[in-house]
Order: sequence, then structure tokens, then C-alpha cells
Amino acid sequence: MDSSSKFGRKVLVFDREDQMLKFMIEQWEDVSKESIDRRGCFTVGLSGGRTPIVFYQKLAEWNSKSSWERTHVFLVDERFVSFDNKDSNYRMLKETLFGKIPIPQENIHSVPTGKGNLEVSAREYEKDLKKFFELPKGQYPDFDLILLGIGEDGHTASLFPGSKALRERKRLTAAVVLDEMRHGRITLTLPVINHARHVIFFVRGKNKAPVLKKILARDDPSLPASMVQPRSGNLLFVIDREASSQLSE
Ligand code: 6PG
Repeated sequence: MDSSSKFGRKVLVFDREDQMLKFMIEQWEDVSKESIDRRGCFTVGLSGGRTPIVFYQKLAEWNSKSSWERTHVFLVDERFVSFDNKDSNYRMLKETLFGKIPIPQENIHSVPTGKGNLEVSAREYEKDLKKFFELPKGQYPDFDLILLGIGEDGHTASLFPGSKALRERKRLTAAVVLDEMRHGRITLTLPVINHARHVIFFVRGKNKAPVLKKILARDDPSLPASMVQPRSGNLLFVIDREASSQLSE
């Protein structure tokens, strides 16, 4: 494993998938334990996409009933589809993780996509966040951990380059309208992500190498993943050798 630190973030490059997953599980266990000791529960935001599936499958083997009972999972983003749709992040998480661990159903904070429209769904999700974190007006939740992926275009969560949601500074969630080929989405906003105590980007594959190079070099500030800069939390990139193939250090 290689590691480097710059701009207040840490980058870890793994040659082997089993080592990468072992490290991720250790991170999860550490932050979970520390959060439960400190505040009585562990709050985490999980992303969709293909990359984290192996991690969720591995995490499902973690046998700690008392920790799962104190874990509250929110979705970083969701497609505006029903929970049984093949594109639903909730569905993916249920199949890989939720359905296999002893987590109470009320600790899973899904995005309510079943009623109204995209905007209603984003507002309802925001209400759930405000209620759970008991937020006074104008405050952001302090997630213990947010796990993010990166798209080839530099998007993260459902924050796409050039989108209006990227400029959102007041709301905790945003409705994101994409082209007619793709489902609308609901996403946590940048201020929420940047208030987390720990943010981990989990990135694998050669197709991510060009964009990862730009993000780590801070070459293009307009890339959404480059705008993830936690105010006081830790920022960690956990990447495989292929995704790191265009990095110079
Ligand atoms: C989603 C995401 C999204 C994802 C990237 C990377 O729901 O799709 O939250 O931001 O992390 O698109 O996706 P892959 O892991 O599939 O490449």
C-alpha cells in the first residue's frame, strides 16, 4: 500500500482488493466504535453505484449486533424510482447489506420516492434529516462518516458538473433533474457532505484514472468531487492501483 498526504487529505493506494476491503472494514469499525462511545450512535451516509458493492457485501459479514442496533444509515443520493426498481440505490443496499444485518428498519433512512414528485421527495428527505439530527434552523448534520464514489465526469453523490444543486448552500437535500434518458435524483448537498467528521472516497478501476488525477491535483475546481473539502473532518481517498495509474506520486 502507498500513501500520501496533501491539501489536508490522505490518499491510500491498494494493490489487492482483499487488503483494500480489510482496510475499509477497519475504518468502519473504528469510526463506528468511537461514535457510539461518544454520542451513543453511529451516523453514516452511503453512496450507490457499482464500486461499493463489494465493500457492502463484505461489511454484511461484520457480526456486531450491538453496533448495528446503534447505526443509522442515510442514503447519500437516490434515483427517483420505486424501491424495487433495478436502479434504486435502496434496492442495491438492501440486497447487499441491509437484508443481511441485524439493523432495525427504523435506522435505515431511505429517500421517500414513493409519493409526489422529485421536489417533494427531496423536501421529505430533508425533514427526516432535520428531525433525526434535531437541527436548529440553518444548521447542518454532523455525519460521523460519509462514503462517496466518483463518476468519470467528476460527479460525486448526485452532484454533477455544472448543475444547480452544486450551488445549494441552505438546503440539506436537492432535487436533480437530468436528461430525459436518466432518472431524476435526490442528493445530499455539498454543505452536508463538508460537515461530516469523516469522508471517504472509494474509487476503483482504470476508467476513473483520468478524473482522479485531476481531482487529486486540484486542477479543475469545477469538478464536484474537488469541491468535497470537509471543514474540519478527515478526507480520505481509498483507491486501487488501476485508478491510481495516472498519478505522479
Ligand atoms: C450513485 C452515486 C454516484 C456514484 C458514482 C460512481 O448513486 O450512482 O452515489 O455518485 O458513486 O456515479 O459510480 P460507480 O461506482 O458505479 O462508478
